[in-house]
Amino acid sequence: MSSATPRPLVAGNWKMNGLTASLGEAAKLREHLEATNATCDVLICPPATLVAALATASKGSALAVGGQDCHPKASGAHTGDVSAEMLADAGATYIIVGHSERRADHAETDAVVEAKARAAHRAGLIAIICVGETIEQRKSGRTLAVVGAQLAGSVPGDATATNTIVAYEPVWAIGSGLTPTVADVAEVHGALHAQLVSRFGATGQAMRLLYGGSVKPSNAKELMGVAHVNGALVGGASLKADDFLGIIAAYK
Ligand code: PGA
Repeated sequence: MSSATPRPLVAGNWKMNGLTASLGEAAKLREHLEATNATCDVLICPPATLVAALATASKGSALAVGGQDCHPKASGAHTGDVSAEMLADAGATYIIVGHSERRADHAETDAVVEAKARAAHRAGLIAIICVGETIEQRKSGRTLAVVGAQLAGSVPGDATATNTIVAYEPVWAIGSGLTPTVADVAEVHGALHAQLVSRFGATGQAMRLLYGGSVKPSNAKELMGVAHVNGALVGGASLKADDFLGIIAAYK
């Protein structure tokens, strides 16, 4: 990965959506990626129940597979949880940690998110660490302070440009159809990039930053054209191959 222009990543987060039949959408993605020369990395994070099946079907293809969360520990008495090692064993190469829905629904603090990112690294996986402000925080002018504190508290000291990606996802933009202005995205991504460079030097310079929150084919090109936006984290529009391919096309 060149530090000047990191290869973009278009990542799909299916959230709690998808049954076995949904693997057909991923098959369409693989067919398309095979037929074209994708100029970005492409990832789908299905629910945990589908990680192994999707990873097996995608082996040797340009489609990577990831988990949506993991427990900080490798194993133990934690009913219902899944470890990073288990996701790696199932064929995942990425794990999303600290998504705002996890932070809100499961009261995950920055310290918990940092431990999960370390767990991903321990298992040899790439952590996609999410940060983002609520609408109240934005309206009160605290966006940069909030995302800056989340970044400082959630990104572990062992982060490198190879094992860590940061996703800026304004909470109010997720699933709402609303997106920040290009100037707002540029401001936040510029601040996150500067903070990573100041903490990690050349490593921070090369770390990829994704934008997430209501990315769709119609706005992908504009959002992906913003400085220090190195790809997208996509929820709703990743569920259908045609929509997701429309976003991938923003990199053509
Ligand atoms: P959305 O979700 O694309 O449906 O807004 C984004 C996300 O939560 O990652």
